[in-house]
Amino acid sequence: MKAWGDLPGERAARERAELEAAIDEAGIDLDPVPYGQHRHGDETHASDHAHPHHQSVAGETPYTGIVGAGAVGTALGAALSRAGWPIHAVASRDASRRERFTSLVEGARAFIEPQALVEEVELIILAVPDDVIAPLAASVRMYGGQAMIHTSGALGAEVLQPAMAAGTQIGSFHPLVAFADTERAIAALHGATVAIEGDDQLASLLSLMAERVGATAVRLAPGSKAAYHAAAVLAAGGFVALLDAIAELGAVAGLDEAGSLQIYGRLIEGTLGNARALGIRAALTGPMTRGDVGTLEAHLAALAAHAPAALELYAAAARREIALAEARGALAPETAAAMTATVVAALARAD
Ligand SMILES: NC(=O)c1ccc[n+]([C@@H]2O[C@H](COP(=O)([O-])OP(=O)(O)OC[C@H]3O[C@@H](n4cnc5c(N)ncnc54)[C@H](OP(=O)(O)O)[C@@H]3O)[C@@H](O)[C@H]2O)c1
Repeated sequence: MKAWGDLPGERAARERAELEAAIDEAGIDLDPVPYGQHRHGDETHASDHAHPHHQSVAGETPYTGIVGAGAVGTALGAALSRAGWPIHAVASRDASRRERFTSLVEGARAFIEPQALVEEVELIILAVPDDVIAPLAASVRMYGGQAMIHTSGALGAEVLQPAMAAGTQIGSFHPLVAFADTERAIAALHGATVAIEGDDQLASLLSLMAERVGATAVRLAPGSKAAYHAAAVLAAGGFVALLDAIAELGAVAGLDEAGSLQIYGRLIEGTLGNARALGIRAALTGPMTRGDVGTLEAHLAALAAHAPAALELYAAAARREIALAEARGALAPETAAAMTATVVAALARAD
């Protein structure tokens, strides 16, 4: 992968591609590598694999392959390919998934074994379940000049270390998209955020890859991946859990789910708007900002009586709200302490 830094030069790339096509057509091999040998940079090494992996030239995207033709592998492969980033290979153990992938991604060669794909490409994307990433990385052997990335949000790039050899790079590329359906996911990649990890050279390549599918890359500091992902899970699944508790309380007041979503949805949108405009701390409203212990007690009693499953969630949020209000200067420390004690007592009664 010699030429990552040159990728933005689309015109130069086109010209080079045209030139290469003409050279190919004339049957000229500018850089022959003897069978059974392996070339990296200017050096040719003896190799124990018969097919030296392809190497891109200045202005080309790297020869890219995807291991895993599941939800992410297939949608990412199709999105990249449609955006002019060719995908040269896919590895999947399942014949129907291989077939679906190659029908969506023009020109991709299909393999069963991940190692066969590693023999062919420069950039290896592992789009396999989180638990499979480390053992899979340990089961393949990379060659100098290659890079391997995974698409997990929960794991850092370091889980790929077992696959590394001299001159290889590892990274990660996590799109903040819910890949439930291929076409919807491809559309959702536009405007999405992709968290990337990798050293400078690989990170700039991954940023370009994100841009190609219409996304924006954010580079994560080493060791911060789990926190970043936990925030994403809180924003998606955690928020749904909150909505579920809101609907449960709405039902006590006679609202069906649609009614709760309509009424409290407006409040949620308003609160989000306030947080965006004023900042999170300033967006906090309600009894916790006023030190209304009586109201807090009434809420906790109503929850214990009618929606006990939602009590813990309310209590956890209340404690965080009390701390925020105190930090904002809205609550005196004694009032904050009294409110926290009220919450703790309600939880103890519920136990
Ligand atoms: N789904 C999402 O919304 C989402 C969003 C962002 C990131 N991610 C991340 O993307 C990665 C892939 O997730 P996914 O949702 O695409 O999973 P998935 O739909 O379950 O697909 C996983 C793929 O990996 C292959 N695979 C499973 N076990 C394997 C093994 N032992 N060896 C080789 N290949 C194996 C599967 O089987 P075959 O070989 O049989 O084809 C399948 O093609 C995960 O790290 C996930 O955290 C997911």
